[in-house]
Formats: sequence, C-alpha cells, structure tokens
Amino acid sequence: MAIPSSSSSMQSLLRERKYPFIFLIGTLLLIFLTLISFSISSSSSTRNGRPLLFSSSDLKIYSSSSTPTPVIAPSSVSGLPDQSEEERPFKWTLCKGPLAIDYIPCLDNHGAIKKLKSRQQMEHRERHCPYPAPRCLVPIPKGYKVPIPWPKSREMIWFDNVPHPKLVDYKKDQNWVQKDGEHFVFPGGGTQFKHGVSKYIKLIEKILPVVQWGKHVRVALDIGCGVASFGGALLDRDVITLSFAPKDEHEAQIQFALERGIPAILSVIGTKKLIFPDNVYDMIHCARCRIRWGADGGKPLLELNRVLRPGGYFVWSATPVYRKDEMHQGIWNSTISLTKSMCWELVARAITSSWFGLAIFQKPANSSCLETRHESEPPLCGKQGQPNSSWYMPLNNCISRLPANNSWPNTWPERLVRISTSLNDEPMSWETFQEDTKHWSALISDVYSNGIGINWTNVRNIMDMNAGYGGFAAALISMPVWVMNVVPIDMQDTLQVIYDRGLIGVYHDWCESFSTYPRTFDLVHTSFLFENLTKRCDMVEVVAEIDRILRPGGHLLVQGTLDTIKKMRVILVSLYWRVSLHQEQFLLGVKAFWRPGDGTIDR
Ligand SMILES: *[C@@H]1O[C@H](CO)[C@@H](O)[C@H](O)[C@H]1NC(C)=O
Ligand SMILES: *[C@@H]1O[C@H](CO)[C@@H](O)[C@H](O)[C@H]1NC(C)=O
Ligand SMILES: *[C@@H]1O[C@H](CO)[C@@H](O)[C@H](O)[C@H]1NC(C)=O
Ligand SMILES: *[C@@H]1O[C@H](CO)[C@@H](O)[C@H](O)[C@H]1NC(C)=O
Ligand SMILES: *[C@@H]1O[C@H](CO)[C@@H](O)[C@H](O)[C@H]1NC(C)=O
Ligand SMILES: *[C@@H]1O[C@H](CO)[C@@H](O)[C@H](O)[C@H]1NC(C)=O
Repeated sequence: MAIPSSSSSMQSLLRERKYPFIFLIGTLLLIFLTLISFSISSSSSTRNGRPLLFSSSDLKIYSSSSTPTPVIAPSSVSGLPDQSEEERPFKWTLCKGPLAIDYIPCLDNHGAIKKLKSRQQMEHRERHCPYPAPRCLVPIPKGYKVPIPWPKSREMIWFDNVPHPKLVDYKKDQNWVQKDGEHFVFPGGGTQFKHGVSKYIKLIEKILPVVQWGKHVRVALDIGCGVASFGGALLDRDVITLSFAPKDEHEAQIQFALERGIPAILSVIGTKKLIFPDNVYDMIHCARCRIRWGADGGKPLLELNRVLRPGGYFVWSATPVYRKDEMHQGIWNSTISLTKSMCWELVARAITSSWFGLAIFQKPANSSCLETRHESEPPLCGKQGQPNSSWYMPLNNCISRLPANNSWPNTWPERLVRISTSLNDEPMSWETFQEDTKHWSALISDVYSNGIGINWTNVRNIMDMNAGYGGFAAALISMPVWVMNVVPIDMQDTLQVIYDRGLIGVYHDWCESFSTYPRTFDLVHTSFLFENLTKRCDMVEVVAEIDRILRPGGHLLVQGTLDTIKKMRVILVSLYWRVSLHQEQFLLGVKAFWRPGDGTIDR
C-alpha cells in the first residue's frame, strides 16, 4: 500500500523533477535565502531562553497594554499567494495513497508491520514510527466542514468529516450510530448498553455508592470504548474519561469519539505499557472489550493494576460475569483467581437479566495484603516506577508496588487546586504548584481569552503539547472544552500531578507522530517546547504533525522565545496559515484549508 512517502521532501522533489540541474540551482538559492532570513531573525532576537515558569508579576509587564498590537500583520489570505520566495522556503507535498486522508504515521507504517514476526499480541496495532518523520500534509476530505460545536456534536456529526459508512452496517444491531442525510447521529447518545448509558451509569453508583460520580471518582479510563458513549455520558457527571481503542479500519471508533468532542486516543494493550504513569486512574471500565485478562501470565490485568490508583475500581461488564456455561465459568474462575492473587477485592456484582452482568473489583489501598500473600505469584515488581518509565516499555509480569504514603485525592473539584499526594516529591513543592496555578489563570484571562484573537466558540478538543503541571487545562476548567495534557518524555515528569488534580494526559515524544487521527484538535497549545525539542528533530516535521492533528480553521498557540516564534512563523506562512505575533512571545496561527496543489486559498 503506497501510503505517504516518508523520505525527506528534498529527495522526492529531486526525483520528481525533470530538470534536476535547474531545479537544484533553484533549491540552493532558496536555501541560501532561507539561511539569510534565519540569521537576520536570530541576530535581531532580543530575548532567548525564558524560563518555563515565571511569576505573575512578570506577566503583568507583558499584558499591560490592553490591545496588543501584532508585530507581524496577518498575512494576506485573499486570492493567490503574494509571499516572496524568502517566505516560502518549503515545498509541501500531499500524503499519497487511498487512505491518506486518515493517515496516522506511527500506526500506518505498513513496511514495519509486514516485518513483524508475531501479531498474536496485537503487535500490528502498536506504534511503529517511520524514520525520518514524514513531512507530507494529509488531504482534507471532500466536503469537510467546521465540526458541529459542542454539546450538539455529542448527538450528531457531519458525515463528510468522517466518511465511514461501513460503521453503520457493522454496528447495525447495536444501535450506536445511524446515517441521517448529511449527518451521523448517535441515538440515545450512542451506546452499546441496550437500556441506555445513563441507566448503566446509575446502576454502577447504585451497587457501589462509594463511587460518587464526579466527587470521589473523577478520572476514568474506558477500554475498547465503542464510540465512547460511556465517557461522553459521564461528562455530565463531572467525570473525565479517557477512552481508548486500537486503530481499526472498519470501525474508526476513536475518530468518531473525537469528532463528537469526547476525549479519546488510539492505544492497545499489546506488548508495551500504556502511556500513563503508575497509580493514576480512579476507575477503569471495560464493557465487552474482548481482552483476555489472564493471557500471558496475566500481563494485561497487571497493566491495569499498574495504572489504577490504590483503592481504585475496575468495572468489568462481560459475558463471563453472568453466563453459566462451562467456557464462561472457566474464564470467570480464572479471572477471579488472578484478581485474588493481586489482592483485588470483588466489591460488587450485578446480574440484572439473562443478558447483562457486571462485576466491580477494587485495587488494595495499601500493601498489607500483598506482603502477607501465601504465594508470591505474580511477584511484586522490583523497584517503584521510575519517572516516565512507561514510554515504549514492555509489559511487566509483576505487581507494581504501591507508593509508601498514599491517600485518595480530595473530592472534585477541590483536588484541582488542592492536591495532596504527589506533592511530597521533590523538586515539586507546594509553592511552585501554587505559583504555576496563578500564572496560568492570569495568562488565560489576560491574554489567551482576551485580545489574542482566538474565537473560543468553536474550540472543544485541546492539545497541550507541553503541559507541565496542567495549569493551562486547570485554568480553562469552567469552559466547555477538554484538554489532552502531554508531558514530553524529555521534560520533568509531572503527569502524576496532572492526574491527581483530576485531569487527563499521556507521555509523548514530539519528535514522533501522536496516536490520533488527522483533524482531531481545535486548538494546539505549546509553551516553551521547541527550544529544546529542535535539538533532537526538525521543526518542519513537528509543524507537519501539528498540521495533521489540527482541524482546518483551528488555532495553534505558541509561547516561546522570539527566535522560536520567528522560525515558526516562516513555516506557518508557507502553509498559508494566518499568523500573528503578540508581545514578542506569543504566536497565534490559524490553519488554512489550503493543501499543496490548490491554486487559491478557499476559506
Ligand atoms: C468454577 O468455580 C466453581 C466454584 O469454585 C466450581 O464449582 C466450578 O466447577 C468452576 N467451573 C469451571 C468451569 O472451572
Ligand atoms: C490496609 O487496607 C485494608 C483494607 O484493604 C485496611 O483494612 C487496613 O486498615 C489498611 N491498613 C492500613 C495500615 O492503612
Ligand atoms: C510518609 O508520611 C510520614 C508521616 O506523614 C512522613 O514522616 C514520611 O516522610 C512520609 N514518607 C514519604 C516517603 O513521603
Ligand atoms: C466566532 O465563531 C462563531 C461561529 O463560527 C461566529 O458566529 C462568531 O461570529 C465568531 N466570533 C467572532 C468574534 O469572530
Ligand atoms: C524522562 O525520560 C527521558 C528519556 O528517557 C529522560 O531523559 C528524562 O530525564 C526523564 N525525565 C525524568 C524526570 O526522569
Ligand atoms: C532545555 O534543556 C536545558 C538543559 O538540557 C534545561 O536547563 C532547560 O530548562 C530546558 N528548557 C526548557 C524550556 O525546558
């Protein structure tokens, strides 16, 4: 399958051109001009290396002028491009192949997948990133429209934005999704729970009142999530759920979830750890997720145990809970013996009819049971999890250790600003945390929501590429948005703090592509990320990835050094984005509908 070429754009250009010499000279001239423009911009740079954190008094200096004047005027977007050669140093190409509109570089690397020795553990659904990272741009589907705003998007989305009519056929009996003219609609919120997802959520709280949706249980993980109706419905109860499923051509479940505005990511329980820290989820949910928990010495369930918070709950809705035939009883028996050996307690079980049943297990809150087990099988893991030690790490066949001083976080929403557990660890201190919280609320109210030019009406899915303590997301909590908080693997590991606050996030390396479909985020935010990142990879590749995950018409907001912002601007202008610079440290880019080969920019 000829999915996009991952070779560098320069090479493919040279191959394509009929007159290599003329072209080569042109290219050299371009490079020369680019170098000059870069050296001019860096020599005129007045500030570099601003610290990640600065105090709110610092901030006032920048936000004192009430109407910030853009240093760089938005580029002209009418008619044909009028940029000089100097501003267009890149020749962009479209990703190729029939599946290019949904291209996910690290999951669609067919060359690498073909070479796999085994697929038994879903290896073909794991990440296999092409190197070098691709620079091509994903095509926009015909008839693509700006997504329907939240909360209406939870019930209906544009068919043209996610043109997968097969899902309707495939899931006909389950009543998840129907096609209705120009729309896909999700009857009753779209659910695999025959009596409606809200009844299901009420049932869980009824059989286990301690759950207290939105107070005690705030952060949940939903595995193999359908179109994420469970997570979608829980949003009404102040619970934030990250839903995940492997990429599947026939279902595209995650794409539907994200188009609806529900937090989701492509992932799989295969041979590698999930990209979450230890001990963070208040609840994990799986309804018919078809995972054999006991497989391979129980590794899948041991991985859930790792990411589950001490005292957290695992909700398992599946046929072995209620079916009495020998096969199902066998699965139930072996699951029970595995959970027992891990000291999980079966705290609730409901069988409401001949076709439905769920069981809820609780992970121990302290290690007293684990230390007094008769048989130490599976064994306890060696040492406590290292920071960010789940990125590309193999699954363990041991029980991860519990933190020494552990307590359940404060009730939501108090825990957003008053976190207790992970603050004991240096170098993070309570003062730094408070300072960070103050810094972000000031920045949001004084700059980002006021005057910088973001139209927040169409913002629902937000990516924070370098989330720190999650202060950006916390400051947006009263808005109808959700934030994917990313802690880059080469930065200080603050992801546990983010979860303790009641927010969600993942580890990621931005020199690689993110595990999501194209056009899934309305706003991409970064704060002092590129200064260090570009030591390891090319800014052009990272911008191509941002272009991939950002919706046309969506915003990119970069805070960085003047040097970074100037380099970024040149790349974005070459993509015909509207770009403005504010207070010499914020860049706002608006993604155009332009694609290589288009004569004009249609908006
Ligand atoms: C499962 O366990 C129950 C009770 O311990 C036992 O009666 C039953 O025979 C077991 N079933 C299978 C298939 O192992
Ligand atoms: C440990 O947890 C058990 C219940 O899982 C509880 O009965 C016990 O009191 C706890 N011990 C400590 C020291 O907190
Ligand atoms: C655990 O808590 C106790 C008492 O609050 C404290 O003395 C001790 O230093 C803590 N240990 C760790 C590892 O944080
Ligand atoms: C923001 O977007 C909405 C919907 O597209 C539009 O109706 C509104 O006029 C825009 N607001 C501004 C200030 O541009
Ligand atoms: C996270 O991992 C990266 C690479 O593995 C390492 O360089 C970095 O120091 C780690 N961060 C922390 C806080 O340990
Ligand atoms: C970049 O890396 C250097 C050391 O490698 C570190 O001191 C600095 O804080 C980093 N900058 C940012 C913005 O993270």
